[in-house]
Amino acid sequence: MAKLRTKAIHSGQHPDPVTGAVITPLYQTTTFAQEAPGVHKGYEYSRSGNPTRTVLETVLADMEGGAHGFCFASGSAALATLMMALLRPGDHVIVGDDVYGGTYRFLTKVLKNFGVEMDFVDLSGSADITPFIKDSSKMVFLETPTNPLLKLTDLEAVIKTAKQHGLTAVVDNTFATPYLQQPLELGADIVMHSTTKYIGGHSDVVGGALILKDDTYRDQIAFNQNSIGATPDPFACWLTLRGVKTLGVRMEAHCKNALEIAEFLEAHSQVEDVIYPGLSSHPQHSLAKKQMQGYGGMISLRVKGGTEEANSFLTSLKYFTLAESLGGIESLSEIPAIMTHASIEPEIRAQLGITDSLVRLSVGIEDVADLKADLDQALNSITSTKKTAAA
Ligand SMILES: Cc1ncc(COP(=O)(O)O)c(C=O)c1O
Repeated sequence: MAKLRTKAIHSGQHPDPVTGAVITPLYQTTTFAQEAPGVHKGYEYSRSGNPTRTVLETVLADMEGGAHGFCFASGSAALATLMMALLRPGDHVIVGDDVYGGTYRFLTKVLKNFGVEMDFVDLSGSADITPFIKDSSKMVFLETPTNPLLKLTDLEAVIKTAKQHGLTAVVDNTFATPYLQQPLELGADIVMHSTTKYIGGHSDVVGGALILKDDTYRDQIAFNQNSIGATPDPFACWLTLRGVKTLGVRMEAHCKNALEIAEFLEAHSQVEDVIYPGLSSHPQHSLAKKQMQGYGGMISLRVKGGTEEANSFLTSLKYFTLAESLGGIESLSEIPAIMTHASIEPEIRAQLGITDSLVRLSVGIEDVADLKADLDQALNSITSTKKTAAA
């Protein structure tokens, strides 16, 4: 079987039979001509299906080792469609306690209104989910590494327990990507992506995907994809397809830069602590070595001091643009408590350790020497009113 980098470039992608075009054409059309009513070439209307989208769905499914791929207008649209397709009022879901803020918001502020119950559980390491399983439990939903605390779940162990109790296991693989981790191979039923991040990789297109291991949920997801209609437009699919071809080389560069930067930050006198799965100080470092083929491009850290010092650090950075999102070729920085995870209640953020001084870096693929120099100058120029007053 072809390796992942080959799949990214060849799966579902063949020269166009009509023109010979090597790259998948952009079928920027809403509708398709029919020879007679109901007689068509497999496409009727672009919400239901579009040839550019089909190619993207095929390549993503193949890269994750799944049987079917479905693309959406965003990762959030993929999540909403998944939950509405598989859950009914009274059903219960076990959710990792450190999921993306928008995922938490959808689950607690939207899905709960439809009578779905949930418990947010620390799924670090080989956490035992048995005490949280109820008769009504239907699904376990998790991220690994998590956003933003980069906690790792032992997928094999947690999914094994989930399957023993008949739960559907869903893994948001956005941070790791199929290049670093294959949840379906470890027993998951469904993989979710915000393709906005590493899959697209260039911070120029929002999208999402669901990859199914087998046929079990195919009809339900396909029906809901079309009925809810949160589908991507053909150009979004084309851009994502263009991005995914270089996933392998980009992930290698993200991982290499991030490891070097994490080590640099850990040794810096202005840094309180660094969270990165590739550091031996990370609580699940050995699991990361076993379960992942690289440690990813995301780093979280706390600078010495508090919120003020963190703000000063971020506003002094030159190459790490202060912005939400992650996974693009350019480096980004943010404070999750104020930005990406602001929709989580302050007391829950405090319990989890998402403090106002926690900084998240998405390490890009720029020259690592420039990135380190940028971080160094920003750390060394941290100012606070306390420091200024004392001076
Ligand atoms: C891990 C993770 N899952 C899902 C999402 C939601 O994706 P989107 O922004 O494409 O809706 C995000 C967005 O940041 C994310 O980081």
